[in-house]
Order: sequence, then C-alpha cells, then structure tokens
Amino acid sequence: MKTIKPVERFEGEFDLPGDKSITHRAIMLNGGAEGEAVITNALMGGDCLSTCQCMRALGAEIEIDGTTLRVRGTPHFRTGVNLNCGNSGTTMRLLIGFAAGKGIEAKLVGDESLSSRPMERVALPLSHLGADVRTSAGRAPVYVYPAPLHGADVTLRVASAQVKSAVLLAGLSADGETRVTEPQKSRDHTERMLSAMGADISVDGLTVRVKKSRLKAADVCVPADISSAAYFMALGALKGKTLSKNVGLNPTRTGILRAFDKLGVKYTALNRRLSGGEETADILVEKSPLRGIALTAEEIPAMIDELPLIALLCAFADGESRISGARELRLKESDRIRTTSEMIAALGGICIETEDGFVIRGRKTLPGGNVESYLDHRIAMTAAVGLMASERGGNIDKPECCAISFPGFFELLEQ
Ligand code: S3P
Repeated sequence: MKTIKPVERFEGEFDLPGDKSITHRAIMLNGGAEGEAVITNALMGGDCLSTCQCMRALGAEIEIDGTTLRVRGTPHFRTGVNLNCGNSGTTMRLLIGFAAGKGIEAKLVGDESLSSRPMERVALPLSHLGADVRTSAGRAPVYVYPAPLHGADVTLRVASAQVKSAVLLAGLSADGETRVTEPQKSRDHTERMLSAMGADISVDGLTVRVKKSRLKAADVCVPADISSAAYFMALGALKGKTLSKNVGLNPTRTGILRAFDKLGVKYTALNRRLSGGEETADILVEKSPLRGIALTAEEIPAMIDELPLIALLCAFADGESRISGARELRLKESDRIRTTSEMIAALGGICIETEDGFVIRGRKTLPGGNVESYLDHRIAMTAAVGLMASERGGNIDKPECCAISFPGFFELLEQ
C-alpha cells in the first residue's frame, strides 16, 4: 500500500529510464547477432529482465552493469528450453517469432496476467510462414517446434508491434520474401534496429518486407521512454512545470503529444537531436487549463500505453471526452478499459466504460480516494499522478508493479 499526498505544485527536471520497447529489441536482436554490442541506458525493469533471462537461457551472454549491458550472441542456441516471460507480453510474443526463426524448440510460460493474454494472434500469422507454434487454447503456455520457414504475405487484423515484430524475426530466416501489412502503423523500433544491424528490410507505408538476413551486432543508446516520461509530463500539465530529458520521439510513439495538442497542454520540445537512429528531445510541459477531447481508432496505436493517463487528464479537463477504437486496451496487463474506469471512479471522477473506450465527464478537480493497481504498472502510475493532483490524495494498493517498466518511480516522484 502506498499513500500519496496531494501537491500544491510539482516542478523539476527528470532523467527517466530507458525505453522498454527498444531495450527488449536491443537485447533480443543482439542476442541473435554476430559479434558483441553495448547497450547504454537500458531499462532494467522487470519486463526487460525477463527478456535477459530468456536470452541467457537460449545461450546468449549478457553482462549487466547498472543500465549498461554487454550482449554477445551465440551461433548455437540451446533448444528444448523453458522460457519464463514473467509479466512481459513483448518478451513472449517476440520470442515466439525469434525461436521459430532460429529453429529452437521451446515452451514459453508467463505469470497469471500474461497467461490470460491472447497468443493465437502470433501463432496464426507465423503458421503462414510454415512455423509450428502451438498455444494452449489461444494462450500460454506456447510451444514452438522447429520447422522450415518460407516467405509469406501476412496481413494483420490489429495494429500490433509485437505481432509484426514476431513475423519479421521469423522472416529473417525464411526462404524468400516475407511481407507484413498492418491496418495502422504500430511502433517501428524493430524495423529500425534490424536495418541498423544489416538486415535486408524495407518499409512501404503499412507494409514491411524482409528477406533472409544475418544480423551484425550493433550498439544501442536507448533514449528515455516517452511512456514513462508521460507521467511527469502530465504532472507538469496539472500541477506546475516539468522538464523530461532525452525523451524518445519516434513518430510511432508520440500520440500523447497529439493528445496534448487537443487537450490544450502547453509543451515545447527542446534540444531536438538524433540518438541511436531515434529522434529525442527534452520536453518542457507547463500547467495548462485542459479541455475535453475526442480520440478515434487511427490515433490509438501511437498512444496505446498512455491511454489510461490520457483518460485521467480528461477527468481533470473542462467538458466531456470520448475515446473510441481502443478495444486493444482490454488485452493488456489488465483490461485497461475496465481498470482505468474503476481507477478514475475511485478518485472521484466520472469515466464511463464503452465497448472500445471511454466517455469521461471532466470535473477540473478530483477529490482523491483509495485506488487499486490491479497489478498493472500503468494503472498504478496513472493513479499516483491522479492522487498527487487530487484534493485529498489517497492510497494505492499493490503499487510495487511499477517496477515492471519504471523501477524507482515513487522515489523519483517524491524526490
Ligand atoms: C509493444 C507493443 C504494444 C505495447 C506494449 C509494447 C512493443 O503492444 O502496448 O507495451 O514493444 O512492441 P501491442 O503489440 O500488443 O500493441
């Protein structure tokens, strides 16, 4: 249980942890490459540690020194292994494609939350390449068996970077060309990193093509995670002024800034630069009066992990907000349409659950209260922001889950 007191004003400069999506990929792709790579500012949260543990189980060598990792791939992967992906959907879904590509026999398991999440969405597209991936009634445990792979044309029903990446990782070992097309653009860190590591890959709108390739290890300097910075940016907007430093601004991830534009949040991107093939900047956010907004399906993938927080900002806005086309939220670490609505209600706000999103009646201020995390890191951190900005504060039950993506979150908040 964590008690959070309301704050009059929240101001400061913040160095935030490395990007979770980029860290997963830097570990996994270098673990399957020739040579050695150094990854700096890696996120050492629970999810990325799960990826380290699985890649080690497969034979990759990984030395961890704070947030610097040294990764050496192996030409001879262990097979017949059990891979424990913990709470991490990215670890499990990417590893299914990785194992299928490398001809590894593996059983992939996860915790209770991960074991309830859909895995057929990965198994089915991989079967088009000839992969032998078997789920347990659509979920984990997932079994991967070696099978010869051939290129294929794969069309995804949902925009999912995890599924797209799994197909691309398998496609690297398939004979011929693999094409994967998604309905909307999801995050493209895999494409960028594969290209930097020498893969034969090209992107044409919503279609990515990949041919059989060997990867060369490449150092990665991981920018701060915009999904983690989002909590500090939101506190700036609600309560004062924050500068979040070196934040990754990959255009497939900056949906929250477009939501900020609609909400009326005043922000500036300072010191724009390129870091490891990804654009970064320091984001200054200042207290702003917020207004209700509408968000629809095509805007959702670029802000998918920030939607609980955006919904919270809508609860502090003037007027009604409608977020639709976000059904994917029901399939995250918790059913985030339900858990976000319940969290906002517990804070004293009005958030009505719809089938694919929310209707939020903004009240400009919320009284506070006692909130559950549902063991979902994004819900816990969003609740902390809500309580700090509330009139009376309150408690968060089971707040430790923040360490999945943001170890040290509460310490930084209290600093
Ligand atoms: C991720 C993709 C997204 C996102 C998740 C990380 C990734 O999931 O929600 O937190 O690193 O590829 P989906 O692929 O299910 O949309």
